[in-house]
Amino acid sequence: MGVPVVPSLGAAAIAGEVGSLSLGIATLVIAFFIYNFIQTRREYEEDKAFGQKHGCMRMETVLPSSWPFALDVLKKQYDALPSQRLLAFQSQYFDEIGPNMRLALFGQDGYLTIDPKNIEAILSTHFEDWGLGSRRPGLYPLLGEGIFTQDGRPWRHSREILRRQFGRIQYQNLKVFDEHINDLISGLSAADDGIVDLQPFFFKFTLATTTDLIFGEAVGTLGDDAQDTFANNFDYASMVSALRLRLADFHWLYKTKKFKASCEVVKQYAAHFVAQALKDRENNGQESASERYPFILDLYEDLKDPALVRDQLVHVLIAGRDTTACLMSWAIFLLIRHPEVLAKLRSQIDSVIPDGQEITRAFIAKIPFLKCVINETHRLYPQLPVNVRVAVKTTILPSGGGPDGQSPVLIRKGTGCGWSTYHMHRLASLYGPDVNDFVPERWENTDLERKVGFGFMPFHGGPRVCLGKDFALSEASYAILKIVQTFPNLRLPPQIEMEKTGQERQSLTIVVTSAEGSLVI
Ligand code: HEM
Repeated sequence: MGVPVVPSLGAAAIAGEVGSLSLGIATLVIAFFIYNFIQTRREYEEDKAFGQKHGCMRMETVLPSSWPFALDVLKKQYDALPSQRLLAFQSQYFDEIGPNMRLALFGQDGYLTIDPKNIEAILSTHFEDWGLGSRRPGLYPLLGEGIFTQDGRPWRHSREILRRQFGRIQYQNLKVFDEHINDLISGLSAADDGIVDLQPFFFKFTLATTTDLIFGEAVGTLGDDAQDTFANNFDYASMVSALRLRLADFHWLYKTKKFKASCEVVKQYAAHFVAQALKDRENNGQESASERYPFILDLYEDLKDPALVRDQLVHVLIAGRDTTACLMSWAIFLLIRHPEVLAKLRSQIDSVIPDGQEITRAFIAKIPFLKCVINETHRLYPQLPVNVRVAVKTTILPSGGGPDGQSPVLIRKGTGCGWSTYHMHRLASLYGPDVNDFVPERWENTDLERKVGFGFMPFHGGPRVCLGKDFALSEASYAILKIVQTFPNLRLPPQIEMEKTGQERQSLTIVVTSAEGSLVI
């Protein structure tokens, strides 16, 4: 008879325990909210004091929007896409509002700038205060772990090991490009029976030079089919990665099966060379294998993990191919639209390099106008036209605040700041009234580059400045020179309409290319 008593006592005890558990949970939740509130309040007060200490004022220039979460700003960008003139469309913001502006996309404060002082702060003077934000998850499926997806200590390590490689390459002579330049020239000669689009030739050329640089001799051992499969998948995966970057925190929305499969093909391609280099080392010893695979084996010495080596290689591939191809393509695009500039360049080349003579760095140094043409191409079409960083701690932008836009602006931890090198390079305040024209002479015998400082930064600046700058300039200079030398009648096909620079149709992925290609006759 006593049996039922026990469960009823147990039920009461359980009910009591559940009651005190709920009370405990409720207390915890309330404590959490109170703690959060106090913490947020404290951070806010600390940030306010930080802002006062630096004389910060609110940025009063705002990107106008009328829809909730500023969704109309996104819609206008989206609507401008089919015209393929998105960068030209965005110029109106800077023309009308000024070099700095605030916007509240999805309710979150963010900033846009083309002010060299602010860009210098982000990239250089306050470098430690800024991180990559959503770039890492956006690029991770394709690139994995490496210099473009890392911040802080891991980035420093990647930078150090890759810097060693580029330091070594700088002193090589231009012969490393010879075979690929010859392929480029013979490809162009074979196609020289009418209108030719140089752009795809340049992409093929820079893919060959970059793969050669990092994979060593072995690339030549792969058949054309394997190279083409890789190139197609690399193109597709890069294109989707650029979209994911634009989606920022919403990158996860775009991860299709096709994208994943393309990333896998790219990784396998790179992994194949890592495996080959390690096998060579096993069979023939470190010293001998290092002659064939210096880049891979040096990375392996440090990273000790084939997958990490593979990832760093893919990073360098993506960094090196499209950027340099676009530079060459825009340079020819501009030269054939300005025959007087092309003639001047050709005459300097002819006067310095005797016919049939091997081209060396010393020769290139004696053609200063080539550097002016490249600088001016970089100015009008910086290959990485826009970029973004996110504050990893509370910091300032030195300029843009207050009624006159001259005071520093407080940037709280977690705030994003985008900048447009493309639009900054078109500031009349830096380059004068002919800023939209192609005038390589502006770089001739002047100290313009020093004068504008961060106002000219095709390779960016500060601790993350491009590691392949010298390599890219060498290969582009050599290739442009060789094309101008080999094809003396290069010109714009008569049926092609000449538009003002910046008004032509463009394709914008991570890089900016001409949507019509670089057509010549
Ligand atoms: C005209 C050609 C090129 C241009 C305009 C260019 C431009 C840039 C820019 C603007 C950055 C900074 C990106 C950022 O911090 O968000 C960068 C970084 C980098 N570039 Fe280039 N690049 C070019 C060619 C190359 C080539 C040919 C290579 C290698 C073969 C290369 C390797 C790198 C690497 C490894 C970084 C990462 C540096 C870091 O984060 O520390 N680049 N490049």
